[in-house]
Amino acid sequence: MQITSFKQYEEDYKKSVENPEQFWGEVAQNFQWRKPWFKVLSWNFNEPNIKWFEGAKLNITENCLDRHLATNGDKPAIVWEPNNPEEESVTYTYKMLHERVCRFANVLKRNGAKKGDRICIYMPMVPELAIAVLACARIGAVHSVIFGGFSAKSIADRINDSQCKVVITADGSYRGNKQIPLKDVIDDALIGCPTVEKCIVLTHIRTPVSMLKGRDVWWEDEVKHVNDICEAEEMDAEDMLFILYTSGSTGKPKGVVHTCGGYMVYAGYTFSNVFNYQPGEVYFCTADIGWITGHSYIVYGPLSQGATSVLFEGIPTYPTPSRFWDIVEKHKVNTLYTAPTAIRSLMSYGEDPLNGKDLSSIRVLGSVGEPINEEAWHWFDEKIGHGKAPIVDTWWQTETGGIMISPIATVTPTKPSFATLPLPGIQPILVDENGNEIEGNGVMGNLCIKFPWPGMLRTTYGDHERCKQTYFSTYENLYFTGDGCLRDEDGYYRITGRVDDVLNVSGHRIGTAEVENAINMHAGVVESAVVGYPHDVKGQGIYAFVIYPEMHGEAELSKKDILQTVTRVIGAIAKPDKILFVSGLPKTRSGKIMRRILRKIAEGDTTNLGDTSTLLDPGVVEEIIAAAKKL
Ligand code: PRX
Repeated sequence: MQITSFKQYEEDYKKSVENPEQFWGEVAQNFQWRKPWFKVLSWNFNEPNIKWFEGAKLNITENCLDRHLATNGDKPAIVWEPNNPEEESVTYTYKMLHERVCRFANVLKRNGAKKGDRICIYMPMVPELAIAVLACARIGAVHSVIFGGFSAKSIADRINDSQCKVVITADGSYRGNKQIPLKDVIDDALIGCPTVEKCIVLTHIRTPVSMLKGRDVWWEDEVKHVNDICEAEEMDAEDMLFILYTSGSTGKPKGVVHTCGGYMVYAGYTFSNVFNYQPGEVYFCTADIGWITGHSYIVYGPLSQGATSVLFEGIPTYPTPSRFWDIVEKHKVNTLYTAPTAIRSLMSYGEDPLNGKDLSSIRVLGSVGEPINEEAWHWFDEKIGHGKAPIVDTWWQTETGGIMISPIATVTPTKPSFATLPLPGIQPILVDENGNEIEGNGVMGNLCIKFPWPGMLRTTYGDHERCKQTYFSTYENLYFTGDGCLRDEDGYYRITGRVDDVLNVSGHRIGTAEVENAINMHAGVVESAVVGYPHDVKGQGIYAFVIYPEMHGEAELSKKDILQTVTRVIGAIAKPDKILFVSGLPKTRSGKIMRRILRKIAEGDTTNLGDTSTLLDPGVVEEIIAAAKKL
């Protein structure tokens, strides 16, 4: 199923559009099924109702683990690099990982978990995180991994939305020289989570934790009580595999649902092709498993292909900004898949961190999560790839399950800042505001997808209507991505950024409404408006305009109070970079905030604000501009 020439890409692409069922049916033959499908695809985008590989039975962990045992059992599956470089790295072969997953699957069963139950995972980037994810899949439980940067309230909201029965966590995590008390955060969350019966706690940083009788158990104790034999649960191709919460333009994050069969096929196929993975190579994706990139391209994609996947606990700048390059040298990494924000941050340290580092093992480079600017692209190409490693700029989303528009390494000619061409099976179209297709090349529009692909979301947990409204109602019969896009003269795609009220801060997706809700929870705040602005390292920064009429004491302290509130309500990742206190917000006569004006002010460009005479209070704009100049 690996594409090795551009001609083959063109042929496969054509076939995938002309005969999608045959195309994906053939791709799916490369996976292990307990029972074959009777229909490859049935779909309609109106309800929406999408089914891939109907009738087929499988367990994704048999594809990620069992099927490699006979021939590749002793091959490294996961290489774990700890936060502290003085600590030993740990390698899990496929055999070891299989054993650990089966054992922990039995722990889950022993604690009452069964097929269909939702299990929340809030853990550091340690091998046990991958083991916990796979153990859920082994018994048919639905995992909902929550990124370690979210607050107790965010966790509680997510746990309650999907009524999780079990939580898996650790005493704490390391992030550079900081320690984060994960179990404390979980304890705060669980006060408001009546559905949670058990909490399994891994010892990692050895910090004191409170263990509640009857609810909390230690991972280390539990694994002693079970054996390592666990038959995989037989799953229907359309049974739920996991939920992953993501932000949209409304205040409440939604639980994107992926199912077993289609997701597996799509993650495996795209991993093998986009990175041109070769047996024996070492692949390193720097994302966190708490995001979709980690799900698809640290765990499921690579393991389904028998690859060696590096799992890194730490951050790019600890103990020094050479850390990524040290890891590349130490583990002889062949593929490095990272985010533009990390590249920009490392660029800012100059070339010293690269001196003396052997990066010769690198064959393929990848970028994900946000648009990569040309400067960062060239730095990555020249300094890290030495001009020899193709860069795959992979565009996709939590909802798409896997990479959608991207070069295929060694096959597709690359172009700086372009995600280039759709992968086989992906049919992008650009539309104008009214949903009319914009044909031809050298055009811009809103990016939609007009035909289903196996990795697409099936619903949003507990609220199918929301899935329909968010993705399938803006334009009839199309999946709307929320992104703006350019198709250049060569037919190459470049993603220009979100066209809705969603920010992309350091590759993290954050809804402006969510941040506003959090700020508005602060007792002194009357109203706020949040917009994005260009940020050198983060891509986008968060700019908050806040009405706070009766401030006690200094404004600086009030700003810190607001940051504290946002950290409590969402998590530190959503903290505004700039807060401007204002006496009013620019609103239309019907009360709608004119974000366009605020965005321009945040960008520092007040030359062309358009017609402000229709505003309720035109004077407020001048006042905001003057205040913004002083910030
Ligand atoms: O705006 C696009 C941007 O990230 C959004 C999806 O965010 P999330 O669901 O968190 O998934 C991130 C990892 C797949 C998209 O709507 N985005 C993602 N990749 C790119 C990108 N923007 C430009 N270029 C990319 N390669």
